Amino acid sequence: MRKPVIGGNWKMNKTPQEGVELVAELRDDLGDMADVEVIICPPYPALLPIGSELAGGNIKLGAQDLYWEKEGAFTGQVSPGMLRACGCQYVIIGHSERRHVFGETDAQVAKKVRAALDEGLKPILCVGELLAEREVGETEIVVKRQLEAALAGVRGEEISTLVIAYEPVWAIGTGRASTAEDAQDVAHFIRRTLAGLYDREKSEAVRIQYGGSVKPENVKFYLAEADIDGALVGGASLKAAVFAQLIRNSTGR
Ligand code: PGA
Repeated sequence: MRKPVIGGNWKMNKTPQEGVELVAELRDDLGDMADVEVIICPPYPALLPIGSELAGGNIKLGAQDLYWEKEGAFTGQVSPGMLRACGCQYVIIGHSERRHVFGETDAQVAKKVRAALDEGLKPILCVGELLAEREVGETEIVVKRQLEAALAGVRGEEISTLVIAYEPVWAIGTGRASTAEDAQDVAHFIRRTLAGLYDREKSEAVRIQYGGSVKPENVKFYLAEADIDGALVGGASLKAAVFAQLIRNSTGR
């Protein structure tokens, strides 16, 4: 049985103080939500204070990116160990904005996945096609290429620690969410690809999220699909009351 997992990707929003206030409100609003795993991914400067605020509770902390080296002359980068020291258990890797705004390659994504696992961080690996790729019927080709590259260094016994987020680029921040059926088709394809790379049993243990304009009003339709185990949420994670409602709706409460 895969436990539902809802991630809030704040992107480049919230000061440390605003972030601490948001998670305090969220925690009070949600109370003891044991049936869904909630992960908050703030910008780097807010990680440490939010990590302290969340310590001992059941809301988990994640980062939005990392660099694969442990330390050294890499101006502007943050290492896996630094994220752990802030209290992170998860890290988003290969988000479409990293790939398409900052030119991150499949090879770099693979190095980041490996570095995260080596430090005991759980990757939330993002994959997804551009609109132009969907329109010419290349969604599966793109998603397969991204998965095979990112997972090249991941061993069978590690795969269930990853969360895979299927995020069609055209649905991110646009209000144009994928239909639940289309998202399910790709999530199923992801699971079949994992079964091919590992085996069926291992693929069944991996949690797959949908991301792209998920809101309190539509989240339950995604979670109702057989291969979708959660959501990665941008805009709708920036207000505590909205995100809390989204999380409650995801479990049908
Ligand atoms: P959105 O972003 O919910 O604002 O569409 C999703 C994401 O980028 O993870």
